[in-house]
Amino acid sequence: MPYKDGKVMPSKWKVPLFDLSFEQNERDYLHQGLDQILDDAYLTDYRYVVEFEKAFAKFCETDYSIAVPNGTQAIEVALRGVGVKGKKVLLPTNTFIATAVAIKSAGGIPVPVDIREDYLGPCLEQIEQDIDQAAAVVTVHMGGLIDPSIVELKELCQKRGVPLIEDAAHAHGSHFQKQKAGSFGLAGCFSHFMTKVMTTGEGGSITTSDEDFYNRLKSLRKFGSDLENSLIHHLEGVNAKMSEFQALLGLMELQRVERRIYKRRKVAARYQENLKGSVWTAMEGPEGGFCSYYKQIVLPPEGLERETVEKALNKVGVPLTGGVYYHPLHRQPVLKSELPNRDYPVADKFCARHFCPPCFPEVKLEQVDLICEQLLKLAHS
Ligand SMILES: Cc1ncc(COP(=O)(O)O)c(C=O)c1O
Repeated sequence: MPYKDGKVMPSKWKVPLFDLSFEQNERDYLHQGLDQILDDAYLTDYRYVVEFEKAFAKFCETDYSIAVPNGTQAIEVALRGVGVKGKKVLLPTNTFIATAVAIKSAGGIPVPVDIREDYLGPCLEQIEQDIDQAAAVVTVHMGGLIDPSIVELKELCQKRGVPLIEDAAHAHGSHFQKQKAGSFGLAGCFSHFMTKVMTTGEGGSITTSDEDFYNRLKSLRKFGSDLENSLIHHLEGVNAKMSEFQALLGLMELQRVERRIYKRRKVAARYQENLKGSVWTAMEGPEGGFCSYYKQIVLPPEGLERETVEKALNKVGVPLTGGVYYHPLHRQPVLKSELPNRDYPVADKFCARHFCPPCFPEVKLEQVDLICEQLLKLAHS
């Protein structure tokens, strides 16, 4: 849904770039909730926020969750909770700039490491090299994939006494070996932006099962206020409270998130079936894992440029959605002066090649067929 000058542009696409539909019963729930909020006349951090936090923690199988205004602040507040000021924080170079922005906002120094080829988690060898100088490690579940190496990463962090934070912005509902995204590390940080697996418009959540850490986060999210006496501030906090309107939407979304993940998985499975045995690779979640497919990542055959693929799809009315990601952190001008002296060959190759065709619950299977037909016309085995 492209916007220009504040106006909704008519879409030229046969397959939408993005769509979000609401059933009548979902609208009714929101309308009733809106009345309740207006009756309460308490528009932030109140009834629906408390309810949403409880429900989101239950969904992630953690003891607690904290609702915040967006995913970037979820990471920032979690890292303020760890205490990273002036210290290094390791993260995969292939992530959205928000992960690095959040580290910097918490006072930390982002130190990118390369990624792993199969499921895009951070390179364990480079983490091991740098971990003793780091205050935290942030891993990212790319496109909803939980890299199986999370098990070793978690062990490594535990052994060295360095907190592991999950950037689970893409991974609501994903799990590996029956463990949910957001429950592996000290904290999981989610984005509930409009296009994500579930949404509160803008919004985010931090999950944790550590009671002390939870209490720290509660304070940090409200200006660092003492939980008993809000006029006293022991911590360097921020204003990261969620409004009641966002929380109401979040509660509605939680009621339908499993159904919507099921639909995402059907769309992804159709890409995977259609492209199986061809020169195209539709990336699948790992054995023992469950991926909610925020994105269906596709790799073209070697030598075929992404731009050529995009042009061919655009010609038949199909857009590519944002990649994950075309420009890794080590290639972002804003971070250039602070980079370690190392190469990132795996990320460079992945970021230059992959693309993400539309994959969300509203996409029809016939549309996936049309896209795959086009890809196979462009290159087949
Ligand atoms: C990997 C990753 N981390 C963090 C964020 C930040 O989330 P938000 O946009 O809600 O601030 C995003 C958002 O797209 C993301 O993709």
